[in-house]
Amino acid sequence: MSAQPHALPGHDLDAFWMPFTANRQFKAKPRLLARAKDMHYWTEDGRQILDAVAGLWCVNAGHCRQEITDAVAKQAATMEFAPTFQMGHPIAFELASRLAKLTPPGLDRVFFTNSGSESVDTALKIAIAYHRARGEASRTRLIGREKGYHGVGFGGISVGGMVNNRKFFGSLLPGVDHLPHTLDLEHNAFSRGLPQWGAHLANELERIVALHDASTIAAVIVEPIAGSVGVILPPVGYLKRLREICDKHGILLIFDEVITGFGRTGKAFAAQSFDVVPDMITTAKGLSNGAVPMGAVFAQRKIYDAFMQGPDNAIELFHGYTYSAHPLACAASLATLDIYAREGLLTRAAEISPRWEQAVHSLRGLPNVIDIRNYGLIGAVELQAREGKPGARGFEVFTQCFEKGVLVRQTGDVIALSPPLIVEDKHIDQIVSTLREVIGKTT
Ligand SMILES: Cc1ncc(COP(=O)(O)O)c(C=O)c1O
Repeated sequence: MSAQPHALPGHDLDAFWMPFTANRQFKAKPRLLARAKDMHYWTEDGRQILDAVAGLWCVNAGHCRQEITDAVAKQAATMEFAPTFQMGHPIAFELASRLAKLTPPGLDRVFFTNSGSESVDTALKIAIAYHRARGEASRTRLIGREKGYHGVGFGGISVGGMVNNRKFFGSLLPGVDHLPHTLDLEHNAFSRGLPQWGAHLANELERIVALHDASTIAAVIVEPIAGSVGVILPPVGYLKRLREICDKHGILLIFDEVITGFGRTGKAFAAQSFDVVPDMITTAKGLSNGAVPMGAVFAQRKIYDAFMQGPDNAIELFHGYTYSAHPLACAASLATLDIYAREGLLTRAAEISPRWEQAVHSLRGLPNVIDIRNYGLIGAVELQAREGKPGARGFEVFTQCFEKGVLVRQTGDVIALSPPLIVEDKHIDQIVSTLREVIGKTT
């Protein structure tokens, strides 16, 4: 049955099979965005919507930045595409070199992809191939974490830990284990910043190593701060402990920084905020301000060097995408990095986070609010699920906020917040007062 055309006269809404969306519900009552600038979207019918989630955690410098638009337009007119298999184009190298200066020490080899999912699958493949290149081909096992989100490729959903993203898709990768997640409301509800309880959960990695033997394990992948599942923070000391255990057993540590990268935590990368250096970092989103799809994996130089052997004419890594380092994405990313540098956006979250923390925690005490979490420019308000209807209350808050002019993100009964890094006090006030009003009225 055809959905009723709503605000798009002459268009049928059925043809677009929307991702991660309740298609029938949406098409019966669409929420259509038409344009954007800085902190705002405007709907088809002209309503202004404050963007409290940077699009989808990606528009870190704010929407439709002229500099990025101009750079993409100029590149499109100069050279819209160039292959990067056995060929190159200058701005791909320029971008990789610029990025290598932002990453933690040693992570200065950059593999370009087009999305977070591709970055994750790339990093997992590099990890396995790296051990093989060093003569440890038995290291193939991958360790993820419960409630983790690493995109939607088969590698990503295998190491990921969100049940609905896994259970419909048959056999996933073999040889994958999961660490326990670190969300514990009993011990940590309403923590400000990182929770104090739970560093010991990293020791579960020792148990997994004892079960399988280190010689079978290639890598551990975690999000330093889990975003998509509804914001889960690492307990103080947890990531350092993971690093120590990985080092002890020769296991690579991959940080999936698709949402935490590019200033979200108050430094360029969460690895720097938490002072833990992983072996690889996966990124996307803020890398190009969401303007053109782009992802990247940052690898320790020792990993790259391990592949650089054999005859000079041999391809060292049989992996890559037609659109790796796409010229339009490179142009968008270079312009994005210019804005980040000029406006100090990669560290701005650290400056605003005390004010942000105060604001989001002021929602404590509202009906059904069972936890509030924050770090950098990330916030989450967890609501008590309705009896037998998980996600219903969260969805109502999300749609009501949209009605009242604020775009938040809903995962189950968690409302997640991650505004563009250019957010000002007045925007923070509007986000929080809208949530206060909506949550206050939601039964
Ligand atoms: C931590 C993490 N990894 C991977 C992804 C997947 O990125 P994409 O949707 O660009 O494939 C996301 C997306 O939200 C993410 O948050």
